[in-house]
Amino acid sequence: MCGIVGAIAQRDVIEILVEGLKRLEYRGYDSAGVALVNPDKKLDRVRRVGKVKALADAMTSEDHPGSVGIAHTRWATHGEPSEANAHPHISNDRIAVVHNGIIENHAALRADLIAEGYQFASETDTEVITHLLHKELLKSGDMLEAFKATIAQLDGAYGTVAIDVENPGQLYAARSGSPLVIGYGIGENFLASDQLALLPVTRRFSFLEEGDIAVITRTSVQIYDQAGQTVQREISESDITHDAGDKGPFKHYMLKEIYEQPIAIKNTLEGRLKNGKLAETAFGEDADRILKDIEHVQIIACGTSYHAGMVARYWFEEYAGISCNVEIASEFRYRKSQVHPKSLLVTISQSGETADTLAALRLAKEIGYHSSLTICNVPGSSLVRESDLAYLMNAGAEIGVASTKAFTVQLVGLLLLVTAIGRHKDMNAETESHVVSALNALPAKIEQALDMSKAINLLAEDFADKHHSLFLGRGDQYPIAMEGALKLKEISYIHAEAYAAGELKHGPLALIDADMPVIVVAPNNELLEKLHSNVEEVRARGGLMYVFADSGAHFKSDSTMKVLSVPHCEKVIAPILYSVPLQLLSYYVALIKGTDVDQPRNLAKSVTVE
Ligand code: F6R
Repeated sequence: MCGIVGAIAQRDVIEILVEGLKRLEYRGYDSAGVALVNPDKKLDRVRRVGKVKALADAMTSEDHPGSVGIAHTRWATHGEPSEANAHPHISNDRIAVVHNGIIENHAALRADLIAEGYQFASETDTEVITHLLHKELLKSGDMLEAFKATIAQLDGAYGTVAIDVENPGQLYAARSGSPLVIGYGIGENFLASDQLALLPVTRRFSFLEEGDIAVITRTSVQIYDQAGQTVQREISESDITHDAGDKGPFKHYMLKEIYEQPIAIKNTLEGRLKNGKLAETAFGEDADRILKDIEHVQIIACGTSYHAGMVARYWFEEYAGISCNVEIASEFRYRKSQVHPKSLLVTISQSGETADTLAALRLAKEIGYHSSLTICNVPGSSLVRESDLAYLMNAGAEIGVASTKAFTVQLVGLLLLVTAIGRHKDMNAETESHVVSALNALPAKIEQALDMSKAINLLAEDFADKHHSLFLGRGDQYPIAMEGALKLKEISYIHAEAYAAGELKHGPLALIDADMPVIVVAPNNELLEKLHSNVEEVRARGGLMYVFADSGAHFKSDSTMKVLSVPHCEKVIAPILYSVPLQLLSYYVALIKGTDVDQPRNLAKSVTVE
């Protein structure tokens, strides 16, 4: 949540900062701001409520010279989205600070600072950093000492960057729980929450580690670790080819990313399959040695990634013959759980920075898990760096806040993991080659499913005046129904619930009437007959149904039911394939509703606060 950019150069940096913010807008978009040290050694701060465009428009109407500056796009935690609460926050016209995350002890610090005469201009937790830094600077007279002393007093998970008009040659940054990446230019250096922000100016990056403090000048980067020792952090060349700034011919990133799924799946399979089998090294050189000993799998994730984990539970138990539990990270981390012997902790995350998932991984290490593996889309992210094994999804940057291609690629990664563990358990060579050939066929199947777009677009009109909806599925399609409901609610703001269809009669049937569309996912599998009965239960209560069904599933459109035919596929990949029409449905409903598809209200892409 929240995006940070910092730059120090010989040239004016305003354009770099604003372009960086545009690229970070997926992290938060309720207000944005920038602070520069101008040539008269004065702070030039501009803030605007709303998206980065509002700030960019304000900046272009006047000149804003300055070769050092910081910028921020906000997702509100403390204090409503307003100009006063927008970052950067300043103290005594000298210090400016941007911050991502939460300062847990802000109330106590604020009270102390107020008692000492500091006046607060916002309701944010961030402003305490600004005044504390100013106070420490007056005490020591040394900006680095003051910055270190300030950081030492903060509790919580955050990333922060500060500038001082009296020390205009430096940016000061600290990482404690929220990612910060340094970008290395020629005679200029940069900082950001995500390397995407800096791709127009550099491809050379290093990641700050937990507890690191960095002092960045035009020509140097000095990093201190948690113990205060000078350290080097590896500089790597980014090979990100996808330019996040480019929507191509698509109206929204979400639609582009839905259509990218065939290629994203090919990319994730690339090099991981060999001679019709899973390659030994698909999860890294060391993986087989770890995976062969595993007796239980515990999956931890949030949101869409959690739904991917729920599907995988069906697969682990059915195909690999190994027990599997799945839990939401924010629950797992705060309850006392029992650790099964030889248990593998699997985290799933598009961003690799989700605060709850990361905390769950750290907890798992303390309570005796055998080992950890992450399925993650962002190389160099915290989850990747802190896990024993990492499956890099290679799905390409996902910009739309509603996760689409990351979900289907997570499912592919999970199915490969089921195979990698299953080999040492119940999965024989024949099943393995069946799974692999189904996965190889998947991109083409998804292309066919994308051809349903026109029909789904038409059907979406039925949802224009609806306020509630119900999604039904059974077995490994139950989590797909949950994911379909999440997609619809987050981008169209229509209330959507998902139920395992067998649960209908235990309560939700009471909701059924003509105003409650019921969306059913119905592949042709062993639960089809049961699903037919559930559909009849809805029909008998006057419900209107939209059934996404295999052609062999024998559903027929009539006055109570619209049937959309989904391409026939192997059972094992059906959960992946059926996700696609549900993504399209939510997209087209959101278009009709006129919502902000890529940046739905109140949400952010990377949830680095708990
Ligand atoms: C919904 C969505 C979220 C994320 C969740 C976890 O479309 O994208 O529910 O799945 O915030 O994020 P990651 O996968 O980055 O850990």
